[in-house]
Amino acid sequence: MREINLTTKIGVYLLEECSEVEKKLIEAAKSATKRAYVPYSGFSVGAAVLLGNGEIISGNNQENAAYPSGLCAERTAVFFSNASFPDQKIEAIAVAAWFKGQFTTDAITPCGACRQVLLETENRFGTPMRVLMYSEEGIYIVNSIKDLLPLSFGDEMLK
Ligand code: THU
Repeated sequence: MREINLTTKIGVYLLEECSEVEKKLIEAAKSATKRAYVPYSGFSVGAAVLLGNGEIISGNNQENAAYPSGLCAERTAVFFSNASFPDQKIEAIAVAAWFKGQFTTDAITPCGACRQVLLETENRFGTPMRVLMYSEEGIYIVNSIKDLLPLSFGDEMLK
């Protein structure tokens, strides 16, 4: 038997250590939490994507009485961006979550299904997507969604 060890390096930044554009992206994600539709969980997530042309698009979670019919903030933002601007690559995504009257003190990390969609988007545009996961105590940052999805299944397997 042999072993494969996987390691992931995650940068933990304070807001003041982020670039100006990253601060704007995080602010857009935080502000998008206010427009989430979360009558069932009360867990408001906001996501904001930075396009190649510098534009910022945001989205939030949209819940449904038939629970699986709802959609996470990350996919809402990415699908809206790809539907509206199919030629614009996505360079970064910021995510923030508001729960029980405050932004979370643990970094909000994308669910498995969203990671898969972010991977597809990264591959589609051929540009690594920086992922900024906000918390009140620090922002987790990785340079590529692949850091959050080791041993991923992507389009290259179908060629
Ligand atoms: N949710 C997101 O929108 N993004 C995440 O990264 C984690 C979870 C949503 C789904 C659901 O509406 C609520 O948060 C609770 O799971």
